Amino acid sequence: MSSSISLSTKIAGSVLSSCLYNASGPLCSTAEELQAIGKSHAGAILSKSATLQKRQGNEEPRYVDTRWGSINSMGLPNKGYEFYAQFAQTAQAYDKPYFMSVSGLSHEDNLHIIKELANFENIAAIELNLSCPNVPGKPQTGYDFDQSRYILELVCAQAKQPIGVKLPPYFDMPHFEMMAAVLNDFPISFVTCINSIGNGLVIDRDSESVVIKPKHGFGGIGGDFIKPTALANVRKFYTLLDKKISIIGCGGVKNGADAFEHILCGASAVQIGTQFMREGTGCFERVAGELTDLMREKGYQNIESFRGKLRDIT
Ligand code: DHB
Repeated sequence: MSSSISLSTKIAGSVLSSCLYNASGPLCSTAEELQAIGKSHAGAILSKSATLQKRQGNEEPRYVDTRWGSINSMGLPNKGYEFYAQFAQTAQAYDKPYFMSVSGLSHEDNLHIIKELANFENIAAIELNLSCPNVPGKPQTGYDFDQSRYILELVCAQAKQPIGVKLPPYFDMPHFEMMAAVLNDFPISFVTCINSIGNGLVIDRDSESVVIKPKHGFGGIGGDFIKPTALANVRKFYTLLDKKISIIGCGGVKNGADAFEHILCGASAVQIGTQFMREGTGCFERVAGELTDLMREKGYQNIESFRGKLRDIT
């Protein structure tokens, strides 16, 4: 049966032929990994969060997957921002936008990186990460609304490329409102909700031990566990933010139905993290196929026909 169903979307002025792509973190640190995303059915390529200098990250084991999700305390291992900026040229071989995640260890580092990126072509947008939970001694900027405003003032004044913000999960209604009030004051293109739920603890009952080495076993929780929190954040920011700010959903997406739920809550694109780590680049085609099948069943031809249209019980 011929299908005229489209998963295409627009983020920061760039067209994505599929609304599904990788979350920053898993399998997006090396040229080979980024090229594999380029060749896959992912609608965009997003880099690992870059710091000013390259970093080894925390000690291993630092990522563990369980039946219900993942825990990680990677500690920002990455090749440094220049590598990811230069990869933009290689990324031109693929018919999709290249987004760069930036996670400087200080406001000064973020500002320096953003200024330098102005010299590079083909970076379709920058996802400024305000929510890394894994660097000892560095609080998550996204939980400090004044600091978030301060860094956005600096960055938005200097950025040449469109800016989006990767947010941590919020759990309290006033916090959603306080962050939305900050974000609505800036010319940002998108927010990505959510980063991992910070500082969870997964333990192994048999060995009576933690399962990752850094930070006495504490780490960011991703995957199945976090979908309800992710959906709540997508939904809440969809209702609170100016409509010119797109929402990118991230958290607990394993299949087409999960992606559908994110879009129904308001997401214009959906990132896959833990499941991408499990399955590799094949997940983008599989989930796209499942989402297309579900849309066909429901009679939707494109994501705009149901995006944000979650109903209340009346
Ligand atoms: C890392 C983890 C994150 O959740 C993040 O946003 C950035 C970096 C890490 O530990 O490498």
